[in-house]
Amino acid sequence: MFITLEGPEGSGKTTAVEAAVKELEARGYQIVRTREPGGTPIAEQIRNVILDKDNTKMDPRTETLLYAASRRQHLVEKVWPALKEGKIVICDRYLDSSLAYQGGARGLGIDNILNVNMFATENTFPDLTLLFDITPEEGLKRIAANASREVNRLDLEKLEFHHKVRNTFLDLAKRYPERYVIIDASKSREEVAKATLDAILSRLCK
Ligand code: TYD
Repeated sequence: MFITLEGPEGSGKTTAVEAAVKELEARGYQIVRTREPGGTPIAEQIRNVILDKDNTKMDPRTETLLYAASRRQHLVEKVWPALKEGKIVICDRYLDSSLAYQGGARGLGIDNILNVNMFATENTFPDLTLLFDITPEEGLKRIAANASREVNRLDLEKLEFHHKVRNTFLDLAKRYPERYVIIDASKSREEVAKATLDAILSRLCK
């Protein structure tokens, strides 16, 4: 099973899933935790180019293609092999981030971004996508309060950009109801962690 974690900046998706992973491992499931962009040496090198704060001249289509290139490499080297071995892959961000950030917020259009990504992923969609929903105001406040989280090029976009990201994610949840579960990330840590585990377990039991 291929699970992806999505949401605006500062939604706490990474922390929320930690407890769920521990519980799933205790129940005997084999989990591979990974992230995008990155997750393998080549893909991490592409990540550094994409997120470098000095790359202010990067064109939106270049950005799209770099995310797709990193995604492809990560699928080939890490995700597909793990899925073949019957493991559960839990990935921080995947193609829905491209649809929301490049398609929605950058304005390149969902269908254009989908086309590039169908090519890159050979139509590999997640079985379950957890959307950690939070307002950009709240999310950015959390990032500012978290000294260990490095600020990247996308974080530096204006508030309007982050509103578009959030709204596109909510539209995507409507477009793909069979794989999307929305989690209210403004709730307490414990509540969010519980909702995360419940969503994964109910999908596993289907
Ligand atoms: P990261 O530091 O991993 O952020 P987060 O902790 O919020 O996941 O940075 C990834 C950034 O790249 C984040 O701002 C979202 C953005 N992004 C895209 O714009 N398109 C994509 O396809 C992906 C995977 C990420």
